[in-house]
Amino acid sequence: TTGGSLYDRIGPDALAALVSRFYDLVAREPLLTPIFPADLTLTAEKQLAFLSGFLGGPPLYHQRFGHPRLRARHLPFTITPARAQAWLSCMRAALDATPEIGAEDGQELFTALSRVATHMVNAPEGAQ
Ligand code: HEM
Repeated sequence: TTGGSLYDRIGPDALAALVSRFYDLVAREPLLTPIFPADLTLTAEKQLAFLSGFLGGPPLYHQRFGHPRLRARHLPFTITPARAQAWLSCMRAALDATPEIGAEDGQELFTALSRVATHMVNAPEGAQ
């Protein structure tokens, strides 16, 4: 690591590649497809904008869409512990497929996202 924010170290191009790979995997994950829209274009745009600010870069999500209120925004979707794990598995695989992001930066990002994902769980295991 060379200092600066995680956003500075990763850079916008690698972050965009990561988000694109992540939603390609989400689209093929049977635990996740029932709750996501068929067309993930806007979802991916919002996630890229969110992660930009979350990692210390430009607060694009706030500028375009306002406060993210992430937990409230996820309440309409049944997010079980297994779904959170599936989401994180897609992110792990997307990171592994994005060598532009170094292992140490990838681990820091994954740890931060793991905390947020745990916070998004809003239904017990087995809920539909
Ligand atoms: C939106 C699922 C975790 C950030 C969504 C949507 C679903 C979803 C179904 C709506 C997609 C749409 O209508 O376009 C999940 C599941 C998670 C999870 C199952 C597992 C724990 C996270 C985490 C983050 C995050 C960890 C932050 C890093 C977002 C953002 C949006 C979103 C920024 C767009 C909100 C908007 O509509 O403006 N998520 N999510 N999600 N999620 Fe998640």
